[in-house]
Amino acid sequence: MKVTVIGGGTMGNGIAHVFAQFGNETNLVDVKQDYLDRAMNTIEKNLNRQVKKEKIAQAEAESTLARLHPSTTLDVAADSGLVIEAVFESFSVKQDIFKQLDGICKPDAILASNTSSISLTKIAACTSRPQNVIGMHFMNPVPVMKLVEVICGQATSEETLSRVTGWAEDLDKVPVTVQDYPGFISNRVLMPMINEAVYCLMEGVAERDAIDTVMKLGMAHPMGPLTLADFIGLDVCLDIMEVLYEGFGDSKYRPCPLLRRMVDAGQLGRKSGKGFYEYA
Ligand code: CAA
Repeated sequence: MKVTVIGGGTMGNGIAHVFAQFGNETNLVDVKQDYLDRAMNTIEKNLNRQVKKEKIAQAEAESTLARLHPSTTLDVAADSGLVIEAVFESFSVKQDIFKQLDGICKPDAILASNTSSISLTKIAACTSRPQNVIGMHFMNPVPVMKLVEVICGQATSEETLSRVTGWAEDLDKVPVTVQDYPGFISNRVLMPMINEAVYCLMEGVAERDAIDTVMKLGMAHPMGPLTLADFIGLDVCLDIMEVLYEGFGDSKYRPCPLLRRMVDAGQLGRKSGKGFYEYA
C-alpha cells in the first residue's frame, strides 16, 4: 500500500518508520527540508538500534529506508490509500491540512489523524468525506509500543474502521477501538495520573524520585509518572489536561499549577533539556 505521513516529529517519524518497515511505500511530508533530514536521521538511528538488538536484519533496515520518500509537498499524497497526519496539536493547522487533503487524495483514501486529544468528529467535518476520517493514535516510541488507539468520529464508517484495524494488525500492532470523547482512553486515564503525581510533588507529599519509585516498583510501570511526563513533554501533558478540563467541565481535570509554571518557564522535559529531571 502507498502511505503518506504528515509531520516528521517524534510521532510522525516513528509512524513512517513502522509503515515502511512493514513493506509500505511511505511518503514523509514536512514543511522544511531541514525537518525531513532530521526525521530521516532519527529513523536511521532507530533502525540501527533494531539491527544491533537483532530485532531486524541489516538488509531490512536498508529496504525500510529505501521505501521512505521525504517530501515538502502534500501533493505526493494523491495516490496514497492511507494518509496519517501527525503534526503538532493545533486544530487550525490540522483543519488546513485536512481541507487540502480532501482536494488532493483519491475519493476512497482514508484520512487518519494521530491526534492525542483533538476531536476526530471536528477534524472529519473539515472534509467532504467524514466517513473516511478516523483516528490512529500511536504511542511513543512507535517502533516499540504495541498499541494503536483507533478513534471513531461521529461519521466514521464501519468499512473505514475495519480497513484501519486490519492495517494496524499488519504492522504487528494491537488496535483498540474507542469512541470520540476527550482524551479517548489513553490520555483520559494516563494524564490525570501524571497530573496527580505533579500535585504530589507540589504539595511535598514526597520527593520526585520517591514518587516515580512508588509507581515503578509498586505498580510495575516501566517509567515513573514524572519521568514519563518528561518523555512525553510537559507542554503536551498540559495541553491534554486543558482538553480534558474543557471537554468535561469537571474540576477533577484541573491542570496542576506546578505543571503550568514549568511549561511557562520553558521546562518541557527531555526535549528542552530540563523538566522534572535534567538531560545532557
Ligand atoms: N525505536 C526503536 N526501538 C526503540 C526505540 C525507538 N525509538 N526506543 C527504544 N527502543 C527499544 C530498545 O532498543 C530496546 O529494545 P530491546 O527490548 O530489544 O532491548 C527497547 O526498546 C527498550 O529500550 P531501552 O532498553 O533503551 O530502555 P527501556 O527498557 O527503559 O525502555 C521504553 C524504554 C520502551 C521507552 C520504556 O521505558 C517504556 O515503555 N516507557 C513507557 C512509554 C510510554 O508510556 N509511552 C506512551 C507515552 S504516551 C503517548 O505516546 C501518547 C500520548 O498521546 C501522549
